[in-house]
Amino acid sequence: MTARFHNPVDTRFGCGSLRELASLTANQDVALVIFPEARALGLLNRLQLLLGERLVHVVEDVQPNPDVAQLRDTYERFWREAADCQTVIAVGGGSAIDTAKALIVGTESGSFDDLLELLSSGRPFVPARAKTLIAAPTTAGTGSEVTPWATIWDTAGQKKYSLHLDCTWPKVAIVDPELMMTVPAGVTVSTGLDALSHALESIWNVNANPISDTFAISAIEDILDCLPKLRRDLGNRELRSRMAQAALKAGMAFSNTKTALAHSISYEMTLRYGLPHGIACSFTLPLVLGLAWGRDEARDRTLQRVFGPDLHKAQARLREFLHSLDVKTEFGDYGVTAKEAEAIIEFAMQGARGRNFIGSRAA
Ligand SMILES: NC(=O)c1ccc[n+]([C@@H]2O[C@H](COP(=O)([O-])OP(=O)(O)OC[C@H]3O[C@@H](n4cnc5c(N)ncnc54)[C@H](O)[C@@H]3O)[C@@H](O)[C@H]2O)c1
Repeated sequence: MTARFHNPVDTRFGCGSLRELASLTANQDVALVIFPEARALGLLNRLQLLLGERLVHVVEDVQPNPDVAQLRDTYERFWREAADCQTVIAVGGGSAIDTAKALIVGTESGSFDDLLELLSSGRPFVPARAKTLIAAPTTAGTGSEVTPWATIWDTAGQKKYSLHLDCTWPKVAIVDPELMMTVPAGVTVSTGLDALSHALESIWNVNANPISDTFAISAIEDILDCLPKLRRDLGNRELRSRMAQAALKAGMAFSNTKTALAHSISYEMTLRYGLPHGIACSFTLPLVLGLAWGRDEARDRTLQRVFGPDLHKAQARLREFLHSLDVKTEFGDYGVTAKEAEAIIEFAMQGARGRNFIGSRAA
């Protein structure tokens, strides 16, 4: 079997790499999408100084989990006021980066509902207008800076839209661990677990290959070692840097495989039970590991490189790891009955991401 790995993002990594934004956007008008706390942290001011007059539009009221209810106004204002800018820079967690991904896909009319209609069809489309995206993550988790996907939530309608086009691959990713120094403990843990979930989901995946495995194994080893230490020592630059790199590697892994069952389950848990994304897609990892084990020899070999040959010990290790971070690992802990959990898993297996899982009946 031959393998193919493709990731078109020009990726820069390291403390201080944010400064490269200036040379990357010379002679352009740019818009900035940034997380709300950035103003008080002095980061917005720093970016305004760095970008100077080329910065023509700022979106700073990004809410966790970008929702249609709020995106509509942001989108329509962007296309009304900043349609001429060439580049959108996203500086923030996955919510800011995914918001920017939605903004750069322009409809003919500038109407957000026209975009939703295109997304509802589930078919690929060529946008009437598009902008270039530069993504600088400020959390170590989503990997959205090296993937083309964006999740747009519709909490009121209890559904989500998945955006994925050629133009939603960022052109450049700037992963500067300095930007992550201010992330609070809870978000550090939940985003770190999102990255762990990306790495594992890329392994128990019908699209896995030896190249994605290499990124995934390295990310898992780093996260298992590093995240508990970082939680106790949030100001540690070295640990922030290792987690930033681990999240990037996990992002590279799933940029080629997509996610699988744990993420498919997570969407229900976020929409129906309000769980933060990183917790929703990681609390089931020990369970999903059990469902993956024994399905495929090559996948077992990769999982065993990380966890050794004993499934029970492997599940116990993952469970203990999550418990050590105060993350509960059973559906019941989140108010979901056994019967409801069964239905959620069954439904998730049939979702687009669930079908990537090696244990799904369609796999
Ligand atoms: N596109 C993808 O491939 C992909 C993958 C995973 C998740 N996601 C999406 O990403 C979103 C979650 O992103 P997230 O987990 O990074 O969280 P987030 O972006 O929602 O950020 C969490 C909180 O931390 C704050 N914050 C971010 N950076 C900070 C910093 N440096 N200092 C202080 N506070 C900071 C934010 O303002 C927010 O309140 C969800 O909508 C999810 O669907 C996308």
